Amino acid sequence: MRKKLLIGLTAVAIAGLALTGCSSRAASESADSTVKKGDTIGVALPAKTSQNWVLAKASFEKALKGAGFKSDVQYSASVSDQQNVIQSMVTKGDKVIVIAAQDGSQLGTQVAQAKKAGATVIAWDRNIMNTKNVDYYAAFNNYKVGQLQAQALLDGMKAKKASGPYNIELFAGANTDANASVFFNGAMSVLKPLIDKGELKVPSGQTTFQQVQTDNWDPKNSQTRMTNIITKTYSNGTVLDGVLSPNDTLGRSIITAAQQAGLAVPIVTGQDSETASIPLIMNGTQYSTIYKNTDDEAKAAVELITDLSKGDKKPAGVDFNDKTNAYNGQITVPYKALTPVLVTKDNAVDAYSNNPTLEALAKGAK
Ligand code: GAL
Repeated sequence: MRKKLLIGLTAVAIAGLALTGCSSRAASESADSTVKKGDTIGVALPAKTSQNWVLAKASFEKALKGAGFKSDVQYSASVSDQQNVIQSMVTKGDKVIVIAAQDGSQLGTQVAQAKKAGATVIAWDRNIMNTKNVDYYAAFNNYKVGQLQAQALLDGMKAKKASGPYNIELFAGANTDANASVFFNGAMSVLKPLIDKGELKVPSGQTTFQQVQTDNWDPKNSQTRMTNIITKTYSNGTVLDGVLSPNDTLGRSIITAAQQAGLAVPIVTGQDSETASIPLIMNGTQYSTIYKNTDDEAKAAVELITDLSKGDKKPAGVDFNDKTNAYNGQITVPYKALTPVLVTKDNAVDAYSNNPTLEALAKGAK
């Protein structure tokens, strides 16, 4: 009897080891993070607060198909929605998850789960904050975007009035968007020295990021704030020379507020080369925008994924030490940057030469 029991227990032990061996093999296979051609790439996009987000889905589907990957591109209108979308991509076993964060400070749990499952996490256009679980960040150089916007503001005001001091007001994007403070810091690196010298004045006194940020990038909020500032500060004949606007959507709302108040439209900056703004740029109502080609930005992420699929540990164009653009509160994320282009009516047709839609709009509005 004892012998039979011993044989039985040994058989169970061997079976257990085999199962463990098998399950650990399965675990190692699922943890194998090497993406290969034909794999599905998850792309989690945020709310469509500006036209570039509307374009992003088609840009990724085209670029991924062209590179031999399948795509699963999904938008989210809220943080919780995007958390669920990312969770579903992890569960599906997507080997790479590209994330344009609705709120980069609220995805720590989701990217930790993605890494645990063996996926590569790529932050796209906007960084993901306060976590080590981000492998790469692909975006336009957003600090440079802010610097270009500030320089355009100065150039536009000088073209209208040869010397200062100039009265300006400041607007920034949503404080839930990691880009918004990067745009603003880039702009203030140009403007603050001139404010300190008294060449620029901010009559409203609103100069900190938190004072000038715009909840959810909602143009209703920026229009209301501009109207309130005009009523309070510019109704006594004080001239408003210029407004730093972080993107076209808010820029158009600021212009509307000035027009509705009967104020001469100030120099207003923007970003995203939205089709609604190009005619305004060409007729001088909006002074400038920034061109960030969405196809190019998607292609940059897909080229990174292709490099990874070849086992390349140092993918092309990745900077491992760009603290200004890619520090996320815990690590400096390996960063693949694209160069933004400043656009005014003087260079619009040339700037859009690789985009027939925008080029035709610029030509047509001349
Ligand atoms: C930013 C993006 C800008 C603009 C803005 C508004 O993160 O980089 O190009 O689209 O969001 O949503």
